[in-house]
Amino acid sequence: MLPQPTVEQALAAFTLPEKLGFGRISAPVMFSATYEKGEWSEGRLIPFGPIELMPNARSIQFAESVFEGMKAYRVPPARPHLFRPLDNAGRFARSATRVGMPAVPESLFLAGLDAVASACADFIPTRSGSSLYLRPTLFSTEGGYDVVNSGAFRFLVLASPSEPYSSGPMRVRIERDDVRAARGGVGAAKTGGNYAAAMRATTRAVADGCTVSLWLDPQQRQTIEELSGMNIFAVIDGEIHTPVLSDSILPGITRDSVLRLAAHSGYRTVERPMPIAELLADIAANRCSELFASGTAAIINPIESLLDADGRQHRPGASAVALRLRQSLLDIQEGRAQDPFGWIH
Ligand code: COI
Repeated sequence: MLPQPTVEQALAAFTLPEKLGFGRISAPVMFSATYEKGEWSEGRLIPFGPIELMPNARSIQFAESVFEGMKAYRVPPARPHLFRPLDNAGRFARSATRVGMPAVPESLFLAGLDAVASACADFIPTRSGSSLYLRPTLFSTEGGYDVVNSGAFRFLVLASPSEPYSSGPMRVRIERDDVRAARGGVGAAKTGGNYAAAMRATTRAVADGCTVSLWLDPQQRQTIEELSGMNIFAVIDGEIHTPVLSDSILPGITRDSVLRLAAHSGYRTVERPMPIAELLADIAANRCSELFASGTAAIINPIESLLDADGRQHRPGASAVALRLRQSLLDIQEGRAQDPFGWIH
């Protein structure tokens, strides 16, 4: 291992670049705790840098890993705002439990977020939509090829000053071949394997000029599920529709925020199974006026077109509802508006 700087040296040497992108710039420090013999260590801030891991660790071999995506916002003179961190703590624990890993205690999870967000407060970008993206990560460190849970784990909170995932309206490619998550599987957990299952299709989507894939249900491939890393919404006859949650859809915290903000703003919201054929017919008939994505990384982002496997483009055309909800959400997250929901920490 190369000699590591101290936390103070790492922080002093860091300057925020002008161009950030999403998740490309690493903050100079991270929070680290370990789990051994049934006990969590206290956790401490360390410089961001390479870590040592046995090559036969089950996190590498078998994706014994879970993570969260969340954001800190700079709202001077207050300390950095975190958005719904207890909801992320709960989902992180549920993801770990689903994969048989020990849940990180809520107090340790929050201590890690607070330590990293406070240390990096000066590096949190202030342009609206930009923020400090936080990536709590739990992975096994024990080696072995037997398919049983490990006894040793590491919890890291990584951070990245970031812009939104997409810089404008997105094109989305309908995935008709691959399947992201099985019934009864781990699709509702934020575990690495789900993203591995999605990567081939998403890379194909990006090569076709899209941002993400739209996943269909794993059995019939007839109803829409999610966008791997984002949930999807449609404005149909002025109502806001989204696929009802199942064990193959990640329950997005931004998805829940959209439903609550939309209801608060007077929209009727509907969670239901949404057949893809019906959605495409609704777009053609102008009943579906807009589509949008929600996610921590994506915020709320209009979808300008759906690209199908036969090369046809389906364009709903509008984006007013998405942009209005996005502004309301950012106003709460960035401290310009009252938070009637108690989301800010
Ligand atoms: C997030 O929104 O935090 C995600 O994990 C999605 C991914 C596209 C980065």
